[in-house]
Amino acid sequence: MKEWYDAINDATTVERIEEIKISIFGKKGILAAEFAKMKSAPNEEKSKIAKELNTHKSSLMDELSSKKMTLQTQELELAMKAEGLDVSLFSTTSQAGALHPVMETMDRIVEYFASLNFAVKTGAMVEDDFNNFEALNLPKYHPARDMQDTFYFKDEMLLRTHTSPVQIRTMMTTKPPIRMIAPGAVFRRDYDLTHTPMFHQVEGLLVDDEGKVSFANLKFILEDFLKYMFGEIEVRFRPSFFPFTEPSAEVDISCVFCKGDGCRVCSHTGWLEVLGCGIVDPNVFKAVKYKNVSGYAFGLGVERFAMLIHQIGDLRSLFEGDIKLLEQFR
Ligand code: PHE
Repeated sequence: MKEWYDAINDATTVERIEEIKISIFGKKGILAAEFAKMKSAPNEEKSKIAKELNTHKSSLMDELSSKKMTLQTQELELAMKAEGLDVSLFSTTSQAGALHPVMETMDRIVEYFASLNFAVKTGAMVEDDFNNFEALNLPKYHPARDMQDTFYFKDEMLLRTHTSPVQIRTMMTTKPPIRMIAPGAVFRRDYDLTHTPMFHQVEGLLVDDEGKVSFANLKFILEDFLKYMFGEIEVRFRPSFFPFTEPSAEVDISCVFCKGDGCRVCSHTGWLEVLGCGIVDPNVFKAVKYKNVSGYAFGLGVERFAMLIHQIGDLRSLFEGDIKLLEQFR
């Protein structure tokens, strides 16, 4: 019998205890076997053997259940240690969250236009071909679509390539006059130092009666806006082309790094391109069934602004989620 007391003592898992229990008390267990043997013992010894066996029976039972309790407690403690949180442990540095530099820049842009009563519109990131291209005077197979190649779904749906479709959505659902901006994410198949497949734009659109909106209005507001964002800089308008504006212009600011003397960032031109704009093309008004109106529109890339404001060299680093980099802009 002694080996069974030893076995219980040596057991290290609850499972092992259950095995031992079956070996001792099971139908084919050793106690059953001992009691069976007793039957063939001489009669006078029978009661002595029975007594002994019964004593073992109850003390083995006691040993088993007390060892089982001990092991169960141990296993529970181990499990709790492995899964548990030590709530008494706290780190010495406390981390305060902050806005991502791109979002912070976007907020500043929105703030400027909101103060001039521009409504903030959002649109949809998954757009249809009509809003993203067709209504913006970019018919199917127009080569200007190539500049904005993007990600397509079935049924002429795509990730919007710019925030300009929000112009269309707004005009389709609202009567003029309109004064709106549309901040949000846009998508293109680009990836290099200054382009990521997802980036942010802020669109602007102002529509009023025919003859009421001029290029001079557009020029004034953009100059004022760019000085608000970048401080004391020069602004210049360069003739350009967008299918949805006519005439169109690209707007440059004097380089914020070299103050216009010429450096690596501005490719030694002294100027940095920051946005596109123009007078709304009549074909756009036709597409949304607006009559006797005039308007201007502009669009800008928020990451570009953030890079210039914070002097960030590689646009892609903004989206790597690296706290060490991002916390510098708090
Ligand atoms: N949608 C144009 C782009 O993404 C920017 C733009 C908007 C230009 C509005 C003119 C007017 O490049």
